[in-house]
Amino acid sequence: MEKEIELNKKLWDELTDVHLKGSDIYPIDEFKNGLNTLKKVEIQEVGDVNQKNLLHLQCHFGMDTLSWARLGANVVGVDFSEKAINAADRLSREIGVGAKFINSDIFSLPEKLNQKFDIVFASYGALYWIPDLKKWCQVASSFLSEGGFLYIIDSHPVHRFLDENKSAGDLSQYKFSYFDTSSKRCESGTDYADLNYTSKSPEIGWHFTVSDLLNAIAKSGLCINFFNEFPYSKVQAKAWETSADNYPVFFSVKASKAEPGASHNRTDPATLT
Ligand SMILES: C[S@@+](CC[C@H](N)C(=O)[O-])C[C@H]1O[C@@H](n2cnc3c(N)ncnc32)[C@H](O)[C@@H]1O
Repeated sequence: MEKEIELNKKLWDELTDVHLKGSDIYPIDEFKNGLNTLKKVEIQEVGDVNQKNLLHLQCHFGMDTLSWARLGANVVGVDFSEKAINAADRLSREIGVGAKFINSDIFSLPEKLNQKFDIVFASYGALYWIPDLKKWCQVASSFLSEGGFLYIIDSHPVHRFLDENKSAGDLSQYKFSYFDTSSKRCESGTDYADLNYTSKSPEIGWHFTVSDLLNAIAKSGLCINFFNEFPYSKVQAKAWETSADNYPVFFSVKASKAEPGASHNRTDPATLT
């Protein structure tokens, strides 16, 4: 898996340079002038963050992390792209909002960070890059203090497997089986923030199913508070707003650190014959 992670790191260093130029998706100048880049949906669903400790996994160059800080949270952002983390540090100093940024692969984070958090947050485009969701959820859960919660808002697996170019909401047109969770390699692609930019480095991503995600969360000792599905991408990027609205494009999930002694009564599909 290390080879894939190294390739993706290279891609994200490349894309960080592109994203730092600013765009509708990454409105850097507006952000410097006080814009909060978080969407209404996560602000509402995460709730009050004032004085809370918040860990942002895969924070890119930190605009959302710093937006949580502007809402009163004490924030730590983590990303494996050195370029992104250096840019996040610079941005934090430039706008005068305190934050700690750590350059790390999520799986190595426990070796670098020894702190508990009220909230672990990950968003838009985070989980596709993760080869092992169970491990990712275990790492996320390990950083939560009792009563704390994990919140994820990301592309819905149904949206990922559909062929956007052909489907226009036709659920019979798909790129691969919904259940095909093998790694997907792409030699170059159109950047979501700059549609005129074609990446030079290859990318490797991993599709997952809804049950993969929910079971990974449950196995990490967290209790699911809610799982929501959103039919179209008004919550996020303009570039994705062409999607039809008869299937889920985004999901959000909140899961809390289980009280001691709490149990989960669920069936693991892998154990069914
Ligand atoms: C689509 S971006 C997330 C954007 C984010 N929602 C934001 O606030 O801008 C995905 C991020 O995940 C990071 N990433 C991908 N795989 C990672 C890994 N294994 N460990 C740490 N960061 C990773 C990339 O460097 C990139 O910044």
